Amino acid sequence: MLFKLLLLIAYTSFIHAYSVIDYSFITKYEYGQMLYENPRGIGCSKCHGNNAQGSLIASYKTSKGEEKRIFAPKISDVSWERFKTVLSAKENKSSVMPTYFLTNDELISIHFYITNLKK
Ligand code: HEC
Repeated sequence: MLFKLLLLIAYTSFIHAYSVIDYSFITKYEYGQMLYENPRGIGCSKCHGNNAQGSLIASYKTSKGEEKRIFAPKISDVSWERFKTVLSAKENKSSVMPTYFLTNDELISIHFYITNLKK
């Protein structure tokens, strides 16, 4: 009897431990937004803008007096395939965009957020 009781307690605390890391209290959209703004590194929004429409990151003049501009592209309609490739740490060949170490679930949430942005 006591053993069964202990088992029950162990079982319920196990369930409880798992429910603590359950993100269902925020929606997938909100979770994606949170990661987009704060993805363990410089926020995507800093370069791609709050609404993922892209933005001018820098403009400068070369020694020859040419005007140069660096843009972060619009990403609100990027395909999942493209998104996954660009964001995977191994594949990042960008000289501007930082390398991120995001899990597949985190990538799915960010992609869901940027492609479903509320206007
Ligand atoms: C420091 C600025 C910067 C930050 C921060 C940044 N990006 Fe970028 N991103 C760029 C630039 C610039 C490009 C264009 C490719 C290049 O020049 O390397 C790009 C390209 C992309 C592309 C490819 C778009 C296409 O159509 O090919 C995706 C997708 C993307 N970024 C998503 C993200 C996400 C998601 C984050 C956050 C986790 C992020 N970026 C953070 C600057 C940035």
